[in-house]
Amino acid sequence: MSASPAHLIRLSDLDDRELEDLLDLSTRLKRRAAGEKLSGRSVGLLFFRGSLRTRTAFEAAMHQLGGHTVHLAGASDFWELEAAEGRVMDGRAPEHVKDAAAVLSTYVDALAIRPPMAGHSWAADRRDEAIAAWAKWARVPVINMESAMWHPLQALSDLMTMREALGSLRGKKLAIVWTHSPTPASPAVVHSLVDAAARAGMEVRLAHPPGYELDEEVTRTIGARGQSYSTFDSAAAAVEGAQVVYARSWWSLADYGNPTLSASRRARTHNWRVDEDLLRRGAEARFLHAMPVRRNVEVSDEVLDGGRSLVVDQAANRLHATKAVLLKLLQA
Ligand code: CP
Repeated sequence: MSASPAHLIRLSDLDDRELEDLLDLSTRLKRRAAGEKLSGRSVGLLFFRGSLRTRTAFEAAMHQLGGHTVHLAGASDFWELEAAEGRVMDGRAPEHVKDAAAVLSTYVDALAIRPPMAGHSWAADRRDEAIAAWAKWARVPVINMESAMWHPLQALSDLMTMREALGSLRGKKLAIVWTHSPTPASPAVVHSLVDAAARAGMEVRLAHPPGYELDEEVTRTIGARGQSYSTFDSAAAAVEGAQVVYARSWWSLADYGNPTLSASRRARTHNWRVDEDLLRRGAEARFLHAMPVRRNVEVSDEVLDGGRSLVVDQAANRLHATKAVLLKLLQA
């Protein structure tokens, strides 16, 4: 066991070659089963927030590879964990990530974490302190199953799905459209998608109402790399000529931690919805969504159930991308 195991916290943990290899491996694993290459290996799955796809994809992936998972739900199976260093731990958390990570590393071969988010301050949550603490203290690879900032596993499936549909992604137009929802998500999916699609050479267009700008680190990084990225205040303008339309609802980072202001801003955004009229503006655009999706609020039934929707394939690809990540990290 290496003293500093490789982790997957965000896609920038992979160089372009490693990212390409992971996508190729995901595709090969979809075509042909790998066999029980992880026989006798275990992965701990720690969810501090709910999941339908990520948890099931991990459990199925490890089963298909001959391995085993231990699932622990933060809300019911154990207790709050402290992530900050040097704290006098006289508050709610009776255990530190440092100790939990050291112990769990002696039981399992990797730890996959969906960390908690306090939801009070974006300046605090964007630091991703909990997943960073697990990565620092675990003696086994740590996989980020969606932190405040990043969802690398979702972005791998997104790239894989777009490659299946379009072949080479270089020069293709991806329109990411913010959608209205009473329960928006963190911007992690969009952060990882924008980063991954720009790296793949796509022309990335982001449409959102005022106040839904992404974290500056994401846009600054893409700008520094000279990759194609533009923002629109109109979904129709962003979708014009796009080969992919990707819908997602995320919180306003401007109002983060303020439910009253957030609700008031959201009350003005009911028209931000993907329907057939919008999709028709694309270039025979395929439709993607990371799910969960609110039908006829975020996206019309017609689009979700239509021939251009790839949402089920996209979710199915989570399984293959997860297997590829597990093989890469556990066979290294
Ligand atoms: N897209 C995604 O991560 O789904 P779950 O929240 O259901 O895991």
